[in-house]
Amino acid sequence: MAFEFILSSIEGAVGVITLNRPKVLNALSPELIGELGAALGEFEANPEVGAAVLTGGPRVFAAGADIGDMVERSPVDQLTRDQTGRWAPLTSFSKPLLAAVNGYALGGGCEIALMCDLIIAGDSARFGQPEINLGVIPGAGGTQRWPRTAGKYVAMEVNLTGAPISAQRAFQLGLVNKVVPAEVTIEVAKRLARRIAEKPPLALRLAKEAVNAALETPLQQGLAAERRSFYFLFATEDQKEGMRAFLEKRRGRFKGR
Ligand code: HXC
Repeated sequence: MAFEFILSSIEGAVGVITLNRPKVLNALSPELIGELGAALGEFEANPEVGAAVLTGGPRVFAAGADIGDMVERSPVDQLTRDQTGRWAPLTSFSKPLLAAVNGYALGGGCEIALMCDLIIAGDSARFGQPEINLGVIPGAGGTQRWPRTAGKYVAMEVNLTGAPISAQRAFQLGLVNKVVPAEVTIEVAKRLARRIAEKPPLALRLAKEAVNAALETPLQQGLAAERRSFYFLFATEDQKEGMRAFLEKRRGRFKGR
């Protein structure tokens, strides 16, 4: 599929999406978000894709939703255009999704990063929710995912001041997995994605689902769901292969069955 506002490619077992509106710092127009969803849909359906990397390129991740597109909107416009519903493919994507963040990840850009499963940040990365400066608040998870990750007080700070935090501080808060020199952010993310993509796909899918469930369910319910998935995986060829390969001292060859 040809896209106008993103670049999408498949490199081995890794799907790569690059947001591509450099003149407006990858501002997230509805069209861009639609293309992002379509590209993720293609990766979802393609069994060759084991994991995906989402990046904004070397300079900026995304400076948020497109303010020019939003300025004159009414609440009814917002509701009927279902601005936030368009973002759903990011959270329903069943394969590991890594964000490779250089420069600004602001507003909706930050929210997209927080929807990913792992975040590799270049040392230039800045994460923030400046919506408050525009007279609004985040609309795609900024007030909900920050407290779950960084705690109430940091969440209050970023949401009430609008000031971004550095890559290093984000790392200290557990918001990003790794900080690397900005020149290698994308390569480091791809390398990690390649390593993850070698793992058994069904186990990856259920591991992702189980970790996400931990943020939404009471402990006993989460543990029960985890156990069911653990037992279920014994029905897969990959479980037999993985355990036999260990015992035979060789690498497992996984099929996603
Ligand atoms: C539209 C944007 C934009 C945005 C930048 N641009 N961010 N256009 N929407 N979110 C445009 C600028 O207008 C400018 O266009 C060009 O990109 C370069 O930006 P500059 O401001 O000149 O760059 P710089 O001085 O380096 O400052 C970078 C910046 C600043 C700090 C990131 O651009 C900024 O504050 N942007 C807005 C960030 C923001 O408020 N994000 C939250 C949006 S609301 P021209 O034509 O002048 O060259 C949101 C809600 C999510 O995200 C809701 C989800 C449902």
